[in-house]
Amino acid sequence: MANVRSFEIPTVMKHGVGAVNTLADDARAMGMRRPLLVTDPGCVRVGLLERAAKPLREADMDYVVFDRVAPNPPIALIDEAAALYVSEKCDGVIGIGGGSSMDTAKSVGVVAQNGGSILNYEWADPQPIQKRIPPTICVPTTAGTGSEVTLWAVITDPKRKIKFNVGGTSRIGAWMALIDPELALDLPAPFTAGTGMDALAHAIECYTCAYAQPLPDATALLAMEYVGQYLRVAYAQGHNIEARYKMAMAAMLGALSYGTESAGAAHAMSQSAGGVHDVPHGALTARVLGPVMEYNYMGEPQKFARIAQALGKDTRGLSVFDAAEMAVEAVYELTEDLAIPTLQDLGFEESEIPTLAKIAFDDPQTIGNPRDLTVRAYEAIYERTFEMGKK
Ligand SMILES: [Fe+2]
Repeated sequence: MANVRSFEIPTVMKHGVGAVNTLADDARAMGMRRPLLVTDPGCVRVGLLERAAKPLREADMDYVVFDRVAPNPPIALIDEAAALYVSEKCDGVIGIGGGSSMDTAKSVGVVAQNGGSILNYEWADPQPIQKRIPPTICVPTTAGTGSEVTLWAVITDPKRKIKFNVGGTSRIGAWMALIDPELALDLPAPFTAGTGMDALAHAIECYTCAYAQPLPDATALLAMEYVGQYLRVAYAQGHNIEARYKMAMAAMLGALSYGTESAGAAHAMSQSAGGVHDVPHGALTARVLGPVMEYNYMGEPQKFARIAQALGKDTRGLSVFDAAEMAVEAVYELTEDLAIPTLQDLGFEESEIPTLAKIAFDDPQTIGNPRDLTVRAYEAIYERTFEMGKK
């Protein structure tokens, strides 16, 4: 209670329809002459790279493209992109895409400025990040990860079959986020659903975790309200710009809720399991979020009652515990309405539960969870998640 906390954010946030149009001016203003554009083949295929890079071409800006970002980016990919940055004598990074592209962009900056491999910076061990990343602009094309404003990047280690975090310091934060909701208009419904639920998970986990503090509590609650009001709309009407804008803001606000800390059991589970099976982070997180909340709500009943209200539930006349339980119900309803794939759909098998529970327990995000955890508790949460997937 009232422990000393800090909150930092080094990122200028510009948002709204057309925000990406000033990309060249903003890049120049922070000293970029030859940026590395980091993106993924999907963004190239649907024309998003073309669209986002248009201001750079119109301004005759010289740039280099690295367009091979894969979902859940592995160590080797980061190191390869960083080597390209150095050999091409780039002087800034522009990440265009979802969380994987933006995490790669920020990580390229870490390696380019601090040397070695991105593996050296796993949870700041063995090496903390000493130098701030070079000028970096993130342009999100989904509304979920919020990597454009977080102080984290998530990297996959295929050898150990785990994902680990790099960051927890403003030195990895993007210099600027250009959040333009028009870039998400063509995002297919299943991606809208998964990424939107990821934004909700960030807000809920950070709001209820041991590191919570007033400023991120405020951003988390508004993120939940926006998700409650607009995620179903964005899912049902991909071209509804108001819903896309509010979801872009929900992603940004949910991500701000992290501060320098990390999430809780849902992310401990989804990040560790995501190292075992290469599946979308949003869908996996969404599937475990309800069962994790069902396990957690008795640890922070007042806060879970507020979550229920933020998600639109009428809790008048209910006891705090009954209201808290409604938060769980609200998330289960959202999960079903958005047709989030089950763990079974994602390729997981119940025989994997002991392994999945063990690696979730070993994930550092277990520590901040609002209810004490054991390996057995994780097994029970996984059992419940599989059970929910059978209905
Ligand atoms: Fe996430």
